Amino acid sequence: MDYTIADNALKDKVILVTGAGDGIGKQAAISYAEQGATVILLGRTVKKLEATYDAIEAAGFAQPAIVPLDMKGATKQNYIDMVETIEGQFGRLDGVLHSASQLGVISPFEQIDEETYDELMQVNVKAQFLMTQAVLPLLRKSDDASLIFTSSTVGHSGRAFWGTYAMSKFATEGMMQVLADELSDTSVRVNAVNPGATRTGMRAKAYPAEDAMTLKTPLDIMPLYLYLMAPESKSVNGQCIDAQPKR
Ligand SMILES: NC(=O)c1ccc[n+]([C@@H]2O[C@H](COP(=O)([O-])OP(=O)(O)OC[C@H]3O[C@@H](n4cnc5c(N)ncnc54)[C@H](OP(=O)(O)O)[C@@H]3O)[C@@H](O)[C@H]2O)c1
Repeated sequence: MDYTIADNALKDKVILVTGAGDGIGKQAAISYAEQGATVILLGRTVKKLEATYDAIEAAGFAQPAIVPLDMKGATKQNYIDMVETIEGQFGRLDGVLHSASQLGVISPFEQIDEETYDELMQVNVKAQFLMTQAVLPLLRKSDDASLIFTSSTVGHSGRAFWGTYAMSKFATEGMMQVLADELSDTSVRVNAVNPGATRTGMRAKAYPAEDAMTLKTPLDIMPLYLYLMAPESKSVNGQCIDAQPKR
């Protein structure tokens, strides 16, 4: 996407980013902070979250917060408590980027084991559902709120061997569409991003033989992530947008 955000366009906004310790989520958190947002870094590996925190602090951006949470085991109450803490500490929430996801195993459909299926659906779908339910009351209080889910090319066109991951991304797009329709008359817009092939750990796991240097970096795809949090996208709702439409 060809978009340049105005300097400091996210000033005073509070944005929660899941999967903020690595890959696209890490870069998005830094990029949002660079434009003035206070970012809340959610993920399961504290060391990685601390590295994102340190990068934001070293750059002199607004002080972030860390929420260490394994979405595999997190309960509805955990998310409710998290939102209470966010409201108590920051008084508001203007954006959520759901970037955390697991890839699982690329395998023939008949070999998908139940445990892998359950774990992926838990992290990629149910955890996002529970977290979204919990954050919505606070998002509704913002006059310009943006909720972003993360899909994939296999989230709207099934592909052999992508099994549970693909199914979880179809569910993610479904959740986004249902919610966008329900919230169409509110100040909360709901969209999804399809990042396209991006140089991260997840991509390397899915395509171990690929030359990663041929891929776009998380920084390269940030214009779309910034656009969807910025005021210019206020009327965009219910869309799944490709960060790399020509790929
Ligand atoms: N990269 C691509 O080419 C590509 C293409 C299409 C879609 N996507 C989507 O883009 C999003 C970001 O992917 P990425 O490539 O940046 O992946 P990544 O580098 O593997 O990052 C994923 C992040 O999610 C976190 N996470 C995983 N399981 C979690 C759990 N149970 N609880 C809390 N956090 C958890 C990871 O934490 P840890 O670091 O602690 O493991 C990590 O920080 C995902 O939704 C992915 O499906 C990526």
